[in-house]
Amino acid sequence: MKNVIELIREAAHIMTSPDRTAVSVKGRSNFVTEADVGVQEFMRRGLQKLYPDYGFFSEEQENDPDYSKPIWILDPIDGTANFITHYHQSALSLALYAEGKVVFGAVYNPFTDELFTAESGKGAFCNGEPIHADNEVEMLDAIIDLGTMPYYKDRAAEVGRFATEIILRASDMRRNGSAALAMCYAAAGRTAAMMEGLLQPWDYAAGMLIAAEAGAIVSDWSGAPLDPKAPSAVLVSGEKVHPEILKMIKEVQNQ
Ligand code: IPD
Ligand code: CA
Ligand code: CA
Repeated sequence: MKNVIELIREAAHIMTSPDRTAVSVKGRSNFVTEADVGVQEFMRRGLQKLYPDYGFFSEEQENDPDYSKPIWILDPIDGTANFITHYHQSALSLALYAEGKVVFGAVYNPFTDELFTAESGKGAFCNGEPIHADNEVEMLDAIIDLGTMPYYKDRAAEVGRFATEIILRASDMRRNGSAALAMCYAAAGRTAAMMEGLLQPWDYAAGMLIAAEAGAIVSDWSGAPLDPKAPSAVLVSGEKVHPEILKMIKEVQNQ
């Protein structure tokens, strides 16, 4: 996948070049910039050249995915709100889905120059160095990243209940603003877990492989495996805290 990694690094120059944050609005708190479309089109053309038979599923286009052949799943910029405000927590997220599973994932933040990668069965890496989830950390000491589902304002009160319980039961809460990076940070043991109540395949397809290959537990909010073909709640965590977080989810949902 060296050629694909090179393509990702090149595409990400679009994110770091000045004047690409011009915004148009898709919905409340939901923005798209020139760079989102620029990265997507650069990747679409590049991947088409390298792998002419593969499909291409991406956030900023109309999609009618055919999963019977290998298909790329792209979020050109995950963390667009961060991108617009120069918060520097934004990443290009690319996965390859083939024969029923994600077989390759890459998440690249050009602002920190951190590239997270995984191929199935081969481990997970940050800039070429192996990464591992923290499978020993206990709930009391856990730092948990809670995604706030900013496009679903009707679920804001639920997010508030989760924030309260995380602060009470764990050590502290984080909110990165890029779900893909939050998954990689849990994969690298920088947090004990990340969770968000509703994500799209392009947000989590790459992160789910990177996290699994780093030894994290990856599931939906009922503990079931993720299906990267469909929107889903997502939980990535170390082994010890996973049952505790599932228990918390059940209790909050029954409040
Ligand atoms: C969003 C980010 C954010 C998460 C949202 C995602 P976008 O993706 O990952 O952290 O809370 O649910 O939709 O819109 O910046 O690509
Ligand atoms: Ca996204
Ligand atoms: Ca996006």
